[in-house]
Amino acid sequence: MIVAIDGPAASGKGTLARRIARHYGLPHLDSGLLYRAVAQRLLIRGEDLGDAAAALAVARGIEPKHLDDPALRGRHAGEGASIVSVHPEVRAALLDFQRAFAATPRGAVIDGRDIGTVICPDADVKIFVTASAQERARRRALELGARGEPVDEAAVLADIEARDARDRNRAAAPLKAADDAVLLDTTDLDAEAAFAEAVAIVEARTRRPQRAIGG
Ligand code: CDP
Repeated sequence: MIVAIDGPAASGKGTLARRIARHYGLPHLDSGLLYRAVAQRLLIRGEDLGDAAAALAVARGIEPKHLDDPALRGRHAGEGASIVSVHPEVRAALLDFQRAFAATPRGAVIDGRDIGTVICPDADVKIFVTASAQERARRRALELGARGEPVDEAAVLADIEARDARDRNRAAAPLKAADDAVLLDTTDLDAEAAFAEAVAIVEARTRRPQRAIGG
């Protein structure tokens, strides 16, 4: 079973994807980490994130072990990711990695922006997770605060709005729900309630109870 979970920044798709993967015993890929890893490597080398050729060279060298660095979850890597992910050649270079991940016999849960539209258009289940920008900024501020990063909620909201605009308006694989995705608005749902809704969507979409192996 392949489950594609897309949505804007801090919509809760990562937490949801991890829980769905654990519940059904499927491997999980947070595709944002790929773009974050490319951005972080360029930043460390002092290279320009807008330089498509430099970003492509880095993207070609990304390996699974590069995705484990906790620094990738920080604000700079996220902002940088949204800049490098605009380059179509970077997206193309990371496509095979994502398709190979999904191609295991058991399937996978992948979260991102274009999983249901571009990476896995034939996914068994597609969920598009949304939440209001204010609620997403509140969640992201809590997350960054917990990581020890200084937080100004107004600045976080401005970041989120800028990132939404960049992700939605880019030419290559813009953020949008696939025609056959189920919308899940988590503005008024906590993680537990969002998980319960997502399980219901999986079961409805596959029209049979999936074998769950845990919480
Ligand atoms: O949750 P958050 O949006 O902060 O982080 P993320 O999912 O790791 O995505 C970081 C950035 O990477 C996004 O703003 C997108 O520009 C880009 N991205 C993408 O273009 N395609 C994906 N499949 C995943 C992320």
